[in-house]
Amino acid sequence: MFNRRLQKNFQAFASNGIFTSSTTDPDWASAHGLLPRFFNALKVKAFYGTILDKTRVFMHEWSKRVAAAGPEGALLEHANDWFACMTADAVVKCAIGLDMRNVERKGAGEALHPFIACFRGGIGALLGHADLKKEMGLSYYNPLASKKDALHRIVLRRREEAEAMVSDMVEKTRRGEIGDANSVIGAMLNDKAPNTGEYVRLQAIYGHVINLMVAGHETTATTLAWTLYYLSKNPACEAKALAEIRDVLGDATEPTADHIPRLPYLEACFREALRLHPAVTAIARDAAADTLLKGKWLVRRGQRVNINLVALQRREDQWGGPFGDPSSFNPERFMPGACEAAGLPPRHPQASH
Ligand code: HEM
Repeated sequence: MFNRRLQKNFQAFASNGIFTSSTTDPDWASAHGLLPRFFNALKVKAFYGTILDKTRVFMHEWSKRVAAAGPEGALLEHANDWFACMTADAVVKCAIGLDMRNVERKGAGEALHPFIACFRGGIGALLGHADLKKEMGLSYYNPLASKKDALHRIVLRRREEAEAMVSDMVEKTRRGEIGDANSVIGAMLNDKAPNTGEYVRLQAIYGHVINLMVAGHETTATTLAWTLYYLSKNPACEAKALAEIRDVLGDATEPTADHIPRLPYLEACFREALRLHPAVTAIARDAAADTLLKGKWLVRRGQRVNINLVALQRREDQWGGPFGDPSSFNPERFMPGACEAAGLPPRHPQASH
């Protein structure tokens, strides 16, 4: 159930999306029936060209900076922001067909696409970070307005702007100017959800698009950033990943979609970074029935259980032993067959994912 005060506050910007509504809500049910269809292996393979294109632009911008710096190399600041620009561009182009070109904009020192600026402003104000003077101008000096009210007003203003942009995306999809019938917006406009037999409500599309941004870009951006951080701190792992890439790609300068499943060590590096720093640090579930855990702890029906993924993914009994300290970076933990070779039960394929 998405019913706690903090969650309700989040809805002020993110509305009734797949993450920000209760599973009893019809808006949740129709989106839950439709959206996962975009994440099967075939679909993701179809997105490959766009993802590669966005990666290429990103590499071009970083290479320019490295080349300009000469043999000493360059210090690139705000790496996470670069990654977030790339992943936002990829997600929005794949899902909606809109090309925001944030990496190019950032590279040219220009303002980011207004949708990203608005999204960041809205979420930032929700979490209590906002430059009130900049956002509110003279009204910032109103002695009768509390900071909380000011932040709330910013959230509502940002939502209004974001809603107008999503409406524009819906119109452009209808006119065939962006995306197609298979884009996320196209599918929400044209298809009934298989589980409910209902269309997604037009007014609910805004929440689903914002939720997709929440779900889809900072998760992948921080995972990329942590993976590169750990590879830079562990030169032996970096060398092994590079050797695997050279071996599999041969003379090719860019990977094709078929190369990707043939890079298990590289995948293990991502999984290991994701284990140590899960982009979603906790998930919550409400008990469907009274449940006695381990014969000791009674969880009442409706009671919320928060699952701390950071702690779970560093448990000594699950992750220690032959692979060393659970807080250390060791991609070997995720290599196919590694657990069996160490005399342990096989790792669940979805572990740390
Ligand atoms: C490293 C990257 C990612 C991580 C760590 C991650 C993590 C998660 C987690 C933990 C959940 C389940 C939450 C829960 O059950 O309470 C989830 C669900 C979901 N994620 Fe991701 N995610 C990632 C990337 C993405 C991307 C790229 C997209 C879309 C572009 C996406 C879209 C979704 C959606 C739509 C759901 C909800 C599915 C449903 O309830 O039917 N995620 N993700």
